[in-house]
Amino acid sequence: MLIAAPPVTLPSASAVERVKIALDRALGGSKVDATEERRLAYARDESEAIGRTPDVVVTAERAEDVATVLALAEEHGVPVTPRAGGTGRTGGAVPVAGGIVLRTDRLAQIKEIDRGDLVAVVQPGVITGDLHAACEKEGLFYPPDPNSLKTCMIGGNVAENAGGPRAFKYGVTRDYVLGVEVCLMGGRVLRPGRRTVKGVTGYDVTGLLVGSEGTLGVFTEVTLRLVPKPPEVATVLALFDDVHACGDAVSAIVAAGLVPRCLELLDRATLEAVRANGVSVDTRAGAMLLVEMDGEAAALDPQIERLGEVVSRGRGVVDLLVAQDAAQRDRLWEARRMLSPATRKLAKYKLSEDIVVPRSRVPELLTRVDAIGAATGVRTLTYGHAGDGNLHVNFLWNDEGERPAVDRAIEALMRATIELRGTLSGEHGIGVSKAAYLPLEQSAELIALQRDLKRVFDPRDLLNPGKIFPATGHAAC
Ligand code: LAC
Ligand code: ZN
Repeated sequence: MLIAAPPVTLPSASAVERVKIALDRALGGSKVDATEERRLAYARDESEAIGRTPDVVVTAERAEDVATVLALAEEHGVPVTPRAGGTGRTGGAVPVAGGIVLRTDRLAQIKEIDRGDLVAVVQPGVITGDLHAACEKEGLFYPPDPNSLKTCMIGGNVAENAGGPRAFKYGVTRDYVLGVEVCLMGGRVLRPGRRTVKGVTGYDVTGLLVGSEGTLGVFTEVTLRLVPKPPEVATVLALFDDVHACGDAVSAIVAAGLVPRCLELLDRATLEAVRANGVSVDTRAGAMLLVEMDGEAAALDPQIERLGEVVSRGRGVVDLLVAQDAAQRDRLWEARRMLSPATRKLAKYKLSEDIVVPRSRVPELLTRVDAIGAATGVRTLTYGHAGDGNLHVNFLWNDEGERPAVDRAIEALMRATIELRGTLSGEHGIGVSKAAYLPLEQSAELIALQRDLKRVFDPRDLLNPGKIFPATGHAAC
């Protein structure tokens, strides 16, 4: 067991039986599945969070089904955990109180891609990579690109405010969500937001819902802002002696005012995983920066040249290479995108963090990570979106007995992050995995305000309970 679920109120057995009958009656048997096989299949997501097997799995096939489920769940007092792709990394889709898992992956229609207005209107079950392809066919671009883009879905991306490598230039999911159709507990449907790029009418309810980790409402439609597709892309590899030289280069690139769309750092242990995945990387390299730039063809060469100048001025540069063709670029990105599953194979257990520090503090953070590894004896592996100061620091171990040292290492990393004026999560959310650490970053008053907001949307705490906030009375920090 890696991340245990917090204590939550469980529904009574009779409430569960009643809601199952009501769901069956309202939706028909094919959408409501309480077989053990199905329930077990929806007990986990791609995080290490352990929850409680749901009592029933409901598949929404129309937006109205979502409202029906949330109305019946409220009436019978049964918790609901919404789920789209189930690729989250902090347990957002893991039911911690049993009850209902509400699948939205079949609501998978791209309703509209409008070249005139530069918007897409999509359902929550659209796979992010499919939306990319559909937009690019129209000469348009939807920039957010979580590395699980072949399997993750827009509903989950919006719920978690997902990021990805292209955030350095283009920002994260939040920067593209103009409006949503959302269903609240009890079945009320709201349409906050707009279709226009500008708009300041009322409170930013859309902004509150984005990144609310499935605790405030369930999306049934999302209106997204698009941009024109960049005509050309160039990928540059900068190889370094070690990760510290690499970190210095990141700071230098940012300070020089260069704006590549991706600026990804890979440390020595991560490079080994890349090599093990069949991509040959110069054996002299102990760290790598994967840099991607986009724009008009004529503007790319001077940018690459300038990047070369800035990086070469620093120390520990082993080589600087421009990817020669699309196939080489794709191989590199494929290896990068597969890092999370690939590094999972390196040890029996892995916990991955996604802390963020101000960009200029990346070199200091890397030094802190080394020190934490040395002090606790826990093996670390670091890669991530260094241009955003957002690094995935992974802790790897093989023996259950090492777990207390791992917990010490994680807490030390969280404390270091806050000291460096950073934040605990850049893109994966708090979910179950990081709830205990929230008080390190946020005051009791701020957490209380958010709990009050949650009560406005969901007074009985039935929608995705047990997420984000530390369990009352035993905030770990
Ligand atoms: C990545 C995921 C884990 O960057 O966020 O690979
Ligand atoms: Zn990431």
